[in-house]
Amino acid sequence: MILKSYTSKRFEVTIKLLFNLEGKTAIITGGSRGLGKAMTQALSEAGAKVAIISRTESELEKTATEINSSGGNCTYQALDIMNRADFQAFVDRLYEENGSVDILINAAGVNKRHSFLDFPEDDWDQVVNTNLKSVYQVSQVVIPYMQKNNYGKIINIASLTSEIGLPNMAAYVASKGAISQFTKALAVEFAESGINVNAIGPGYFKTELTMPLFKDEEKVAWMMSRIPLKKIGDPDDLKGAAVFLASGASNYITGQTIYVDGGWLIS
Ligand SMILES: NC(=O)c1ccc[n+]([C@@H]2O[C@H](COP(=O)([O-])OP(=O)(O)OC[C@H]3O[C@@H](n4cnc5c(N)ncnc54)[C@H](OP(=O)(O)O)[C@@H]3O)[C@@H](O)[C@H]2O)c1
Repeated sequence: MILKSYTSKRFEVTIKLLFNLEGKTAIITGGSRGLGKAMTQALSEAGAKVAIISRTESELEKTATEINSSGGNCTYQALDIMNRADFQAFVDRLYEENGSVDILINAAGVNKRHSFLDFPEDDWDQVVNTNLKSVYQVSQVVIPYMQKNNYGKIINIASLTSEIGLPNMAAYVASKGAISQFTKALAVEFAESGINVNAIGPGYFKTELTMPLFKDEEKVAWMMSRIPLKKIGDPDDLKGAAVFLASGASNYITGQTIYVDGGWLIS
């Protein structure tokens, strides 16, 4: 009996340490709202210093204030993720201040819906550049800093459409399919640098990005019919996967896309 309680207490302490992010510095692109915000809150609750990025300063300030007033350490920088020079300057400063950049979550993303034959080239470029090219640029800036400490956790945000096709969003589907493969490519290339590269594939979550779908009752009924857990995702549902992939708990996992989708893809 005594042995049992001793063992379980030790297990509890070890598990807490595995998920602990104290002393880690994290960058979350798209951390101002929606899924990026929920993952920022999660990493902060696990002890990480978090630095969030988006183009809208007022939203960044609001999110940072919320996190800091509940005991977190959140800084922010308004910038367009496509601007490599601005992002490089931001990361240089962050590294100088903290001595490490340990975690990167690439959550900034956009979608444009058009039937394929009418898909305007500007919209195609905006979606593919934001969802895919920016992840290439941001990773090229951050990885050298991770290599300095032989440690890093990169989490890309994929989608159901990394696996399946959906109509009227060819650019988005193409970009998210590519993100899953890009994740595998970097996982292999940087494994020996102590960097784990994984992705989270969310199902349908209510955010600004998906708001048009949730105004359509037929679409909502269709979504519910496809989700075995019979629940639309709440951004908080991503918190567990984000902390898991950002922490030592996932040290032996790389190149994977973990779907947080209420079971959509397996049904
Ligand atoms: N919601 C879902 O059901 C769902 C499902 C699967 C995957 N995802 C993915 O999850 C990620 C987050 O989506 P969300 O639903 O949370 O959408 P959201 O609420 O619209 O948030 C998108 C975030 O990206 C930022 N962003 C967009 N373009 C940017 C740019 N050029 N530079 C810097 N920041 C930029 C936005 O801020 P600004 O506009 O102020 O720049 C915002 O912070 C995306 O990659 C999305 O594809 C979402």
